Amino acid sequence: MARKPSPFVCSSCGAPTHKWAGRCGACGEWNTIMTARPAAGERREAAPVIALSDVGEDEFSRIATGIAEFDMVTGGGIVPGSVILVGGDPGIGKSTLALQVANSFRTFYFSGEESPAQIRHRAERLGVDTGRISVSTVTSVEEIIAAAESARPDCVVVDSVQTLYFSEVPGYAGSVSQIREATSRLVDMAKRSGIPVILIGHITKDGAIAGPKLLEHLVDTVLYFEGDFSKDYRVLRAFKNRYGSVNEIGLFRMEEKGLVEVKDKNSLFLNPYLSSSPGNAVSASLEGSRIILFEVQSLVSFTSFSNPRRMADGFDLNRLILLVAVLEKHGLLKLGTFDVFINVAGGFRITETASDLAVAMSIASSLKSREIPPSTGFVGEIALSGEVRHVAQGHRRIQEFARSGFERIVLPRGGMDEARRAGFAGEVVEVGTIAQAMDRLF
Ligand SMILES: Nc1ncnc2c1ncn2[C@@H]1O[C@H](COP(=O)(O)OP(=O)(O)OP(=O)(O)O)[C@@H](O)[C@H]1O
Ligand SMILES: [Mg+2]
Repeated sequence: MARKPSPFVCSSCGAPTHKWAGRCGACGEWNTIMTARPAAGERREAAPVIALSDVGEDEFSRIATGIAEFDMVTGGGIVPGSVILVGGDPGIGKSTLALQVANSFRTFYFSGEESPAQIRHRAERLGVDTGRISVSTVTSVEEIIAAAESARPDCVVVDSVQTLYFSEVPGYAGSVSQIREATSRLVDMAKRSGIPVILIGHITKDGAIAGPKLLEHLVDTVLYFEGDFSKDYRVLRAFKNRYGSVNEIGLFRMEEKGLVEVKDKNSLFLNPYLSSSPGNAVSASLEGSRIILFEVQSLVSFTSFSNPRRMADGFDLNRLILLVAVLEKHGLLKLGTFDVFINVAGGFRITETASDLAVAMSIASSLKSREIPPSTGFVGEIALSGEVRHVAQGHRRIQEFARSGFERIVLPRGGMDEARRAGFAGEVVEVGTIAQAMDRLF
């Protein structure tokens, strides 16, 4: 006799079970037991398959939102039928961004977090066309999908994914199974109808978009909206993008009238009155297709602890420890009795080794209490041997220094030719090792 199939299954590990439980006995995950799909029938119609060359191209035409920074991060605008997940800390401006993007379309805005009056109030403050945007506080996925499919708006915004509810799945709104199932229904709707969906998601304490990691696999694009609350700038980063690069960043400033695109991106991370106090050095970072200049600040102070402290804000701590070791060994700096603190101005985050030379020289400058001459830029990676090495796209970094009116750049050996080719007319200091760099600067 054939065994009766189990009516429930764990959505995480796939283990079948005969009764529903809050926790899967096989993998230990919570809220993952759901109703099993009916067993497959013996005969099914063959799935339609078409030649790749017969697939229409127009399905991929992007819709530019007119917000240049957003379009840049998404790879040229919103692709019809795509689902974009926007994550960010509470209050960072996710709803503001969504509303501003929505302004470019006839949008249905579903908000489980705010009342229509609150949304209208914000829309008026942002100068959004309130006639084109329709709002609803419905959180039932079925109703959202039905509304979108019958009225066919140009875009659907769901604020936020944590408030969605899908009646066929057990669990409260915001639970893992609810979020996952609701999202997959919306993805399904988007693909069928071609209506793009913007989903807003909260970020948990450990930095992941709340809900299962699986959410990131379900959607086409994952954007993170971040920034520093003490400053008014915001950075939009692509974490995943099926339709474009994930290296681009979008820069905004949060103002009374909403998010304003930043035209001169260096103004955010570079102090316009570049102080030439000891410990400050400027470098150039490659962010997607752009070069951004920023200032590194170091403070080296005598320690009263037996274990000197190393702290880094905006820079990898392990890289800092490594650079300190290289400075001790090959630069002959006695840092063992000093605390070393690094901060990257404006809350910028260094992700490249191309800024090593700037970081190392800012540490040396602070230790020696000797300032780096004003208007000096650094480009170079530091090897464990103390050697200063060339970096990727050095040419473009030098061009950016030239464009920003820098008078002096410190480059790896052989950098003079590159600097002249990049149109830099100022003084070029070529250094082969960090010891040479310190000789030339201090
Ligand atoms: N009148 C105003 N002038 C300037 N900035 C404002 C004004 N009102 C709100 N803001 C900014 O907007 C931010 C809130 O934006 P928004 O509601 O879009 O954030 P959110 O990420 O959707 O937040 P939540 O997680 O609560 O949904 C505030 O933190 C503030 O920086
Ligand atoms: Mg919000």
